[in-house]
Amino acid sequence: MKFYTFLVIITTFCSLLSKVYSLTNVTNSYSFVLSCGATSNATDADGRIWSPDSTYFPSSSGNSITSKAKYQDPSLISDIPYMTARIFKNQTTYSFPVSPKSRHWIRLHFYPSSYDNFNCSNSFFSVNIAGFTLLNNFSASITAQALTQAYIIREFTLVPLQTATLNITFTPSSAYNDSFAFINGIEIVSMPEIFEPAPMVGFSDQTTETQASSMQTMFRLNVGGQYIPANNDSGLGRIWYDDAPYLFGASFGITSAANNSMKISYPSNLPNYIAPEDVYRTARSMGPNPDVNRNYNLTWIFQVDTNFTYLVRLHFCDFQMKRMNQRVFKIFLNNQTALEEADVIGWSSAQNVPAYKDFVLYQTGDDEMWVALHPTDETKAEFYDAILNGLEIFKINDTTGNLAGPNPVPSPPLAATDTDSQSKPAFASNKTSKKGIIVGSVAGMTAGLSIVVVVLTFVKRRKNINNGGNKSSRGGWLPIYSSRSTETRTTISGKSSGSSHISNIGGGLCRYFTLAEIKQGTKNFDESRVIGVGGFGKVYRGEIDGGTTVAIKRANPSSEQGLHEFQTEIELLSKLRHRHLVSLIGACEENDEMILVYDYMANGTLREHLYKHNKPPLSWKQRLEICIGAARGLHYLHTGARYTIIHRDVKTTNILVDDKWVAKVSDFGLSKTGPNLQQTHVSTMVKGSFGYLDPEYFRRQQLTEKSDVYSFGVVLFEVLSGRPALNASLPKEQVSLADWALHCHRKNTTKELMDPHIKGEIIQECLKQFIDTAVSCLSDHGTDRPSMGSVLWNLEYCLQLQSDPDEPKMVAEQKANDAYAMHTELLTVAEEGKESEEHSTDAVFSQIVKPQGR
Ligand SMILES: *[C@@H]1O[C@H](CO)[C@@H](O)[C@H](O)[C@H]1NC(C)=O
Ligand SMILES: *[C@@H]1O[C@H](CO)[C@@H](O)[C@H](O)[C@H]1NC(C)=O
Ligand SMILES: *[C@@H]1O[C@H](CO)[C@@H](O)[C@H](O)[C@H]1NC(C)=O
Ligand SMILES: *[C@@H]1O[C@H](CO)[C@@H](O)[C@H](O)[C@H]1NC(C)=O
Ligand SMILES: *[C@@H]1O[C@H](CO)[C@@H](O)[C@H](O)[C@H]1NC(C)=O
Ligand SMILES: *[C@@H]1O[C@H](CO)[C@@H](O)[C@H](O)[C@H]1NC(C)=O
Ligand SMILES: *[C@@H]1O[C@H](CO)[C@@H](O)[C@H](O)[C@H]1NC(C)=O
Ligand SMILES: *[C@@H]1O[C@H](CO)[C@@H](O)[C@H](O)[C@H]1NC(C)=O
Ligand SMILES: *[C@@H]1O[C@H](CO)[C@@H](O)[C@H](O)[C@H]1NC(C)=O
Ligand SMILES: *[C@@H]1O[C@H](CO)[C@@H](O)[C@H](O)[C@H]1NC(C)=O
Ligand SMILES: *[C@@H]1O[C@H](CO)[C@@H](O)[C@H](O)[C@H]1NC(C)=O
Ligand SMILES: *[C@@H]1O[C@H](CO)[C@@H](O)[C@H](O)[C@H]1NC(C)=O
Repeated sequence: MKFYTFLVIITTFCSLLSKVYSLTNVTNSYSFVLSCGATSNATDADGRIWSPDSTYFPSSSGNSITSKAKYQDPSLISDIPYMTARIFKNQTTYSFPVSPKSRHWIRLHFYPSSYDNFNCSNSFFSVNIAGFTLLNNFSASITAQALTQAYIIREFTLVPLQTATLNITFTPSSAYNDSFAFINGIEIVSMPEIFEPAPMVGFSDQTTETQASSMQTMFRLNVGGQYIPANNDSGLGRIWYDDAPYLFGASFGITSAANNSMKISYPSNLPNYIAPEDVYRTARSMGPNPDVNRNYNLTWIFQVDTNFTYLVRLHFCDFQMKRMNQRVFKIFLNNQTALEEADVIGWSSAQNVPAYKDFVLYQTGDDEMWVALHPTDETKAEFYDAILNGLEIFKINDTTGNLAGPNPVPSPPLAATDTDSQSKPAFASNKTSKKGIIVGSVAGMTAGLSIVVVVLTFVKRRKNINNGGNKSSRGGWLPIYSSRSTETRTTISGKSSGSSHISNIGGGLCRYFTLAEIKQGTKNFDESRVIGVGGFGKVYRGEIDGGTTVAIKRANPSSEQGLHEFQTEIELLSKLRHRHLVSLIGACEENDEMILVYDYMANGTLREHLYKHNKPPLSWKQRLEICIGAARGLHYLHTGARYTIIHRDVKTTNILVDDKWVAKVSDFGLSKTGPNLQQTHVSTMVKGSFGYLDPEYFRRQQLTEKSDVYSFGVVLFEVLSGRPALNASLPKEQVSLADWALHCHRKNTTKELMDPHIKGEIIQECLKQFIDTAVSCLSDHGTDRPSMGSVLWNLEYCLQLQSDPDEPKMVAEQKANDAYAMHTELLTVAEEGKESEEHSTDAVFSQIVKPQGR
């Protein structure tokens, strides 16, 4: 897709090259890794050496300017090669000595910032190599904005040039006055030929000579697995991403991984640099239930440029089946049948043996590419299932040698930058005009303030999917939908007009509301009842069952908050019951409406009691109690439920307070289950809110429950200081609360952080304990952070110290132990999900509707 780029700096080609040598018979293996505009060798964050570019840059050709970026975006993982640039006012060519017979990876790095008097918003240019147009009318600035990331890496693979010189030409666009070209980093790496003729979808007798073409890498996914960094690739320095963000619809299938003891054996005709073992060791399949599988396609959707030909490479390796005709499936590309009978064991003839299939496809009309799998009926295979391990999509040059697509269009909310919008809407907040989390992130980024800026490549994509989902006929967004037949819905008698239902999915606990009930409860969505507005739509205060006050979250059809997030929320919340988690009462899906019904939280969000709302300031003890409540909720998520649940979006707007000042964690739209058994982390696209994002999660894209601990550390400092996690109006070093708090802690000036309202109140011992706990939560490495349980214990201890300062420490400790133990006992009792799942009776139902007293 046109918005695709690479996330992480490709690493260590030195070691990589030796691998390429041993893997292939390339006699002249070499690489150029250049930091443009630099004056000496420099090492990036991953230890790779970047050399100056001046040697390859003939001084005679045009006049170039070297410049240093005025501002280092905090999201730059490494200032090498991004902080220096070479700027061209006129057409300019770099020349490199290369092997005429070798294919090459070309990776171009751009950091669209401000350089001297050059504003990258004015930069439009093209890049050409030997008759191929890699980029045309390219604006790094627009592209970065659309991707909401600070820098861009583009990867191309170039056919053997048959000449000993590789010339890269940069040409500023003539369509704009003052236009210029710029570049921060160039990599040229020789590679083995990995392409071969591939069949055209829809023209079974035709093949395309893909090895004669240059290509742009659009997507590279480790399906069902995790992010694989460049230095863990099998020698070609490629990055493989998690496929989950590209999955369509409600049905994710299931992921599986080969047992560690299983060996992946590459057959003789498949060199092991085709894809690393890690790609073949993990897979996504449809699931064990043939009736479910019959009704859906396992589908991924990708945003691509139209009017180009694409090479789609699917990687397979079956580590579950043993014989042919056990799992046979169809492969659809853009709704056309690419292959009738895919049988992985049939191709590889054994378990654990990888294989891949290439298809070539011309993309017309729509800019969405659909890749779908469905079991085949014809062969009467033993299992009704499909599997995929890896997926690569390359854009092939057209007949004129062009590879360039148009610049992406940044999503509209970007225009309305609201630096305060990092807060996600809350159920009981009267603050309006808040945008969704992703939009908030974008805003934080454009303001250049975020600590950690993330590649949210799929901001736009997700939106499109949502829209697509709404358009399409299979737009069901509730898990209930897929089996919404009359048999599976149990009518609850009496209770509420007989029209509510419980689904047997979602733990059997999701009550079904009719739109009429919701309309009645909200006076037809009366504006006066709006208590919160967000990226997903509005939250209303409503009444059900003749008087119970509830919060009603109504998705707006063009919502940025995805289908998946709603589903996650329903699936998780309908199974979880805990005093410190917000309860989901039910849902409504009718006339394309997506509505969730929750317990009403009379006191709104924690945030609004801390700053900017002119509410009476909370006492220190109240603050501590709220923190303890939230810590209990999170501790339960991490350890109390059947699976570890990672919240992923812990922040003060997601901690709500009810009428009795009991804190409850809310908003599970981004939550993830995992890691389980062998895994120690789940790897995902980085999501979350700026100001709260775990730097390790950002760097590694590996999510653990310690990411929640980090965010909670930020919450603790927010509570102590009464200021937002990010505040753009402060001096630079104070913008990020997490950074500023750590700075103050190092300098021993934490007193400066404290909210003046509580300064006099806090007992010294308590303060020290609290700050030590919060600081340890912000440790750079997840392994150095305490568990949520330990954080909870420490907060209980703080509360003891504060409540009874004269008490001996031993006694305080014992009391903290007791409080903690009591909570842990409650944990086991509180895990009702298990029992409730078995009997969805009226009794259970009323417990859910009136979840008080737990
Ligand atoms: C590697 O290249 C050398 C020289 O070109 C040739 O003699 C040898 O057979 C090649 N080896 C393989 C495995 O292709
Ligand atoms: C810079 O690095 C390159 C490649 O590692 C090396 O060949 C060259 O000698 C280095 N130059 C200097 C001045 O250190
Ligand atoms: C660069 O381009 C400008 C106008 O496009 C021209 O006036 C100038 O002579 C060119 N400089 C060189 C060195 O070619
Ligand atoms: C760069 O140009 C854009 C659009 O012309 C403008 O909005 C922006 O403020 C400029 N940035 C700087 C640093 O001058
Ligand atoms: C590359 O550029 C140099 C200088 O601009 C030129 O002399 C050479 O002929 C070019 N080579 C190719 C293969 O285009
Ligand atoms: C470029 O500048 C000239 C003179 O300032 C002006 O006449 C012309 O319209 C401008 N062209 C563009 C594309 O902005
Ligand atoms: C990359 O490889 C190293 C060494 O084999 C391993 O320790 C690390 O966990 C791998 N990282 C990922 C993300 O697979
Ligand atoms: C693709 O080609 C068709 C037919 O030539 C044309 O109508 C359409 O505008 C093109 N689309 C794009 C995005 O260039
Ligand atoms: C494939 O079919 C689905 C549903 O029939 C439709 O929504 C979608 O647009 C189609 N995709 C393509 C690429 O034609
Ligand atoms: C799966 O996709 C194919 C091709 O688009 C379509 O014909 C078929 O109806 C789909 N099957 C289901 C169950 O959605
Ligand atoms: C890509 O460019 C090469 C060289 O110009 C050409 O031979 C090939 O046919 C092009 N590929 C396509 C699919 O047109
Ligand atoms: C260049 O890109 C800009 C921004 O996407 C677009 O508005 C403009 O029309 C493009 N110009 C050409 C000549 O394609």
